[in-house]
Amino acid sequence: MLPWTQLATATAPQGGALRLFRRGEEFSIRLEGGNELMNSRLGGSEEALARLALDRLADRRAPRVLIGGLGMGFTLRAALSVVPSDARLIVSEIVPELIDWASLHMGAVFGACLSDPRVEVRQGDVAMAIAEATGAFDAILLDVDNGPDGLTRAGNDALYGLVGLQSARRALTAGGVLAVWSAAPDQSFSKRLSQGGFDVREQTVRAGRTRRGPRHTIWTAVRNGT
Ligand SMILES: C[S@@+](CC[C@H](N)C(=O)[O-])C[C@H]1O[C@@H](n2cnc3c(N)ncnc32)[C@H](O)[C@@H]1O
Repeated sequence: MLPWTQLATATAPQGGALRLFRRGEEFSIRLEGGNELMNSRLGGSEEALARLALDRLADRRAPRVLIGGLGMGFTLRAALSVVPSDARLIVSEIVPELIDWASLHMGAVFGACLSDPRVEVRQGDVAMAIAEATGAFDAILLDVDNGPDGLTRAGNDALYGLVGLQSARRALTAGGVLAVWSAAPDQSFSKRLSQGGFDVREQTVRAGRTRRGPRHTIWTAVRNGT
């Protein structure tokens, strides 16, 4: 078997190192200590995040979608494959090097998606992009952590608490969708979403693209009321 080669390092959002590795056509991004954050062969649930959320938008014209963060772009590519030609996809990524790695090292993974005219990648904290917006997005797709419990950045807890969820609700249009990826179910998060003014659906999906392997959780929460 081919050995892994380290291609680049960056500082993770919570401090410590993030490392990009390659083995043949496979890429892996790992946290310091070896914990794998992303693998180019495992994007099934990240793709489902986009599909399940955008299915609920039905036939909206010129939908505006905020995606946090970029990672290996599974969610972005899945979103691009279903949105219309007048859609706008804004990707918020907090680690600047990750944006560079996409084109410098992982062109084979990203393909042409970063030059698609519907896509804009902004370096920054998705929590800020949400806090600054009012009725600006038809969907917000969040995959910036291990889930509402957090993993990479303690500050991301602000996204999943009641105040953070109310901020997301404000940033959405009426009937807009907040979708959140998680490695595990979390009943208290479902309750918080309901308290925050959302009609909530919690689903489990396979991590990979086959019927085997671990499952991940995705919430699609539709902004209720006006
Ligand atoms: C698990 S990966 C995302 C995977 C992505 N859904 C995909 O399809 O590849 C998490 C990403 O979120 C980024 N991130 C973490 N906290 C963030 C924040 N507060 N704002 C924006 N990006 C963030 C990380 O740097 C990382 O690129």
